[in-house]
Amino acid sequence: MQIEWTEGEDAFADRAAAHVADHFARKPALSVALPTGMTPVGLYRALLGRAAEGAVSLTAGHYFNLDEYVGVPQADSHSFAAFLHRHFLGQSGIPASQIRLLRGDAPDIQAEARAHDAAVAARGGLDLAILGLGANGHIAFNEPGAPWDGGTHVVPLTDETRAANAAYFADAFTVPEAGITMGIGMLRAARHILLLVSGAAKAQALEVFLAGRPDPAWPVTALCGHPSVTLIADSALRAG
Ligand code: PGA
Repeated sequence: MQIEWTEGEDAFADRAAAHVADHFARKPALSVALPTGMTPVGLYRALLGRAAEGAVSLTAGHYFNLDEYVGVPQADSHSFAAFLHRHFLGQSGIPASQIRLLRGDAPDIQAEARAHDAAVAARGGLDLAILGLGANGHIAFNEPGAPWDGGTHVVPLTDETRAANAAYFADAFTVPEAGITMGIGMLRAARHILLLVSGAAKAQALEVFLAGRPDPAWPVTALCGHPSVTLIADSALRAG
């Protein structure tokens, strides 16, 4: 595992963007899984900045989201799809045909999960899974105790995650009780993982991950032993 500690929000975002840009330089038609949350916002901004300068080309890539709220339409501003359009995809010039975002309100949510898996498989799997980390150790919406195999599926959300996500919204949005998420098996199958960790609430989850002992109570530890993990973490979280 490669570990990079960065100081401050700008350095964190720039380092993450440089890492993603390196992947695109090696493989322009990269298939990428995209996270939602506060952590990747700076990465998206920095990546768009690099693209505007011509330092990276994102338009040959294929993009998938990691997860979505069940029951929330993409057009709803609270959806993860809307978040990704707002912060990244909408300004990227990436053709819509190269973007597949989960439909949380799909009439047949199981079929939607299978369609997501099939779309990723059609690209030969994920080249790069960009992941944030939940305070409880979750990756995407794989909560503590989640199985470590399998593809996209529907999951109940923990109260902790629902409360953390409600804080993103100033309005009275009720975070749904279920999500749809790429499974841990699918994430582990990604050729490369970029794990982004910032925020004081992540200290314990990061410490458990760095201890390197696989434990289903901490989903992120499913990545221990993956052949290509890059961790970019805020140095404020560095122990000792
Ligand atoms: P955050 O969420 O980036 O908003 O902290 C991370 C996550 O829960 O995966």
